[in-house]
Amino acid sequence: MAAQNNAPLPDGLEIAGYRIVKKIASGGFSIVYLAYDPDGVAVAIKEYLPSSLALRRDGELVPTVSRANLPVFRIGLKCFFEEGRALARIAHPNVVSVLNFFRAHDTVYMVMAYESGHSLQEHIQRQRAKGGKVGEAFIRTIFIQVLKGLREVHASKLLHLDLKPANIYLRTDGTPMLLDFGAARQTVNNDMPTLAPMYTPGFAPPELYAKTGGLGPWSDVYSIGASMFACMVGSPPQPADQRKSEDKMAGHFDKLAGGYSPELVELVRWCLRVDPLERPQSLFALQKVLQAAPPPPPQAPRGIMARLGGGLRGLVGRLGGAARPKARAGPDTLV
Ligand SMILES: Nc1ncnc2c1ncn2[C@@H]1O[C@H](COP(=O)(O)OP(=O)(O)O)[C@@H](O)[C@H]1O
Ligand SMILES: [Mg+2]
Repeated sequence: MAAQNNAPLPDGLEIAGYRIVKKIASGGFSIVYLAYDPDGVAVAIKEYLPSSLALRRDGELVPTVSRANLPVFRIGLKCFFEEGRALARIAHPNVVSVLNFFRAHDTVYMVMAYESGHSLQEHIQRQRAKGGKVGEAFIRTIFIQVLKGLREVHASKLLHLDLKPANIYLRTDGTPMLLDFGAARQTVNNDMPTLAPMYTPGFAPPELYAKTGGLGPWSDVYSIGASMFACMVGSPPQPADQRKSEDKMAGHFDKLAGGYSPELVELVRWCLRVDPLERPQSLFALQKVLQAAPPPPPQAPRGIMARLGGGLRGLVGRLGGAARPKARAGPDTLV
């Protein structure tokens, strides 16, 4: 069955005690709705509905899944459920909060705390539309918190495996949270069959392309580097499979010099190593660099800076940095 647009559940529908307000997003794998729980609290409900496997026409609630697609649909459903259950045990401010799960309409629904905000990808696009770029201080602040959330995920024996600006959500108070663990896989005790992992070109590490495995925390590290790169450049890095034959990344890193501190550029380069063993082996190592290295020097008139000396330059750098404050190819392709 070819991919199609599935009809969303109708606004106002009551389902398992929740009232659907409206669809807020739909991807190839699921539809996300804003809804209210019985107490009137806003929740986001994610409905498992892979469009390549299931078809729901307008006016229907239960999707049709062909006999041929049924086994794969069921495996995906089980993964969605199991992984959501694992996620539900994680309570961290930088990880989306999963509140409930229920079955209805021959599929599964995951209930999350609703957060108002927008994705990091939207942030990048807005900055670029204004002719600006995502500043170093902002990147550092956001990714230090993203890494805190990711440490918690890894500590729960989960990998995210689809980290990218579209899956990093910025609440209106500016704090980030990790979303969309659809591709997450349990790293231990994984005795259930899994679907081939989905990956997003540019953000997916090379080992995700190789069917031989070798996935680990270092795989998420690659995607973190790719996400920081996307903040800096406005588009994803060269896809990892292409890098294996002709790696064009060196030139891109060189172009970043000047706009960002050498420490940050080096960190991104380190995360984006093709060889997993050459990447940072712990998130802690990454956090340390993000917290320690200085922000970039300001763009100030040369003469004044020379006369005032390095001390003030550092101070202005910090202030200047602080003041500057997302294949599923298509929609995730920036620029
Ligand atoms: N808990 C939530 N609160 C608010 N919006 C959410 C929440 N979860 C998802 N969304 C919205 O739905 C979009 C898609 O969610 P995501 O989990 O990434 O699904 P997909 O598999 O379609 O990419 C997000 O970019 C965000 O706009
Ligand atoms: Mg997503």
